[in-house]
Amino acid sequence: MKKAELASQFVSQHLQQFQCPVCGGGIAAVADQTVQCENEHSFDISKKGTLFMINAPVKTEYTDEMLRYRQQMLTAGFFEPMLQAVSDRIKHGGLVLDAGCGEGTTTKWLAQQNQNDAYVGLDISKPAINIAGSGTVSAPQPLFMVGDLAQLPFGDQQLTTIVNILSPANYQEFDRVLQPGGKLIKVIPNSQYLKELRALIYPAGEHATYDNSPVKDHFIAHYGQVDFTPVHYQFDLTPVLFKALFEMTPLTWRAADRKAAILERGLTHITADFEIGVVTNQ
Ligand SMILES: C[S@@+](CC[C@H](N)C(=O)[O-])C[C@H]1O[C@@H](n2cnc3c(N)ncnc32)[C@H](O)[C@@H]1O
Ligand SMILES: [Zn+2]
Repeated sequence: MKKAELASQFVSQHLQQFQCPVCGGGIAAVADQTVQCENEHSFDISKKGTLFMINAPVKTEYTDEMLRYRQQMLTAGFFEPMLQAVSDRIKHGGLVLDAGCGEGTTTKWLAQQNQNDAYVGLDISKPAINIAGSGTVSAPQPLFMVGDLAQLPFGDQQLTTIVNILSPANYQEFDRVLQPGGKLIKVIPNSQYLKELRALIYPAGEHATYDNSPVKDHFIAHYGQVDFTPVHYQFDLTPVLFKALFEMTPLTWRAADRKAAILERGLTHITADFEIGVVTNQ
């Protein structure tokens, strides 16, 4: 089956769970690669099987080139130990949303591991969702859509799990769409994340560590009780992967004038350091 047909089938199978992001109405039908709400707002499914379900796309700081380097680094396995910890915490048996999925490697990996759940990867960046929809289809194919996590195209209490990896969150909206007993799994960078790269960029030692407390405090302020697990490991780099790492993050923009020297010097490994916060929806 073609990608666009698979995506149409995915939406048809979950019709009741989607909601129009324009009027909040239910989705009435999927026909000819078009999803239509009960008030006749319509959204196209592309040849790649991606669904465009947003009023107006927003330009983000991630360029197409950066997203492709990120895809290279992630498909090499940079996030795998963290993703395994996320996967272990998923509530199964329904629709799982990767909110702010970027170029989609995380969604594909989780869908591959948990073949009985249905996965949606949503991101506000059209270039990111274009990349997510490219390449060979892995079964089961996640549905990738351009959408806004602050205005999710799902009805109330329709999702079993939301995964939110290194991306902005909208807790009111997450609470609305999660089933009672559903899980929110949020991954935030911890202080040592990319520390060797930071040390190369800020040679005087300033900003050598990352302070995640504003994000963490906001998360705890909303839910009161959050169950956190640290995940810390080192990932081996080749020169090709080091270039991908350098190019995938806006962190290195301020070292653009020293890029050649930094690439020449390289790194043998990079630290991954995260905190995974889990909340069960009441
Ligand atoms: C640092 S990237 C992380 C992407 C991916 N989760 C990963 O770990 O590779 C943050 C992502 O959040 C997305 N984003 C920012 N605001 C958003 C919004 N309001 N709705 C959906 N996605 C958003 C960006 O487009 C970007 O892809
Ligand atoms: Zn509508």
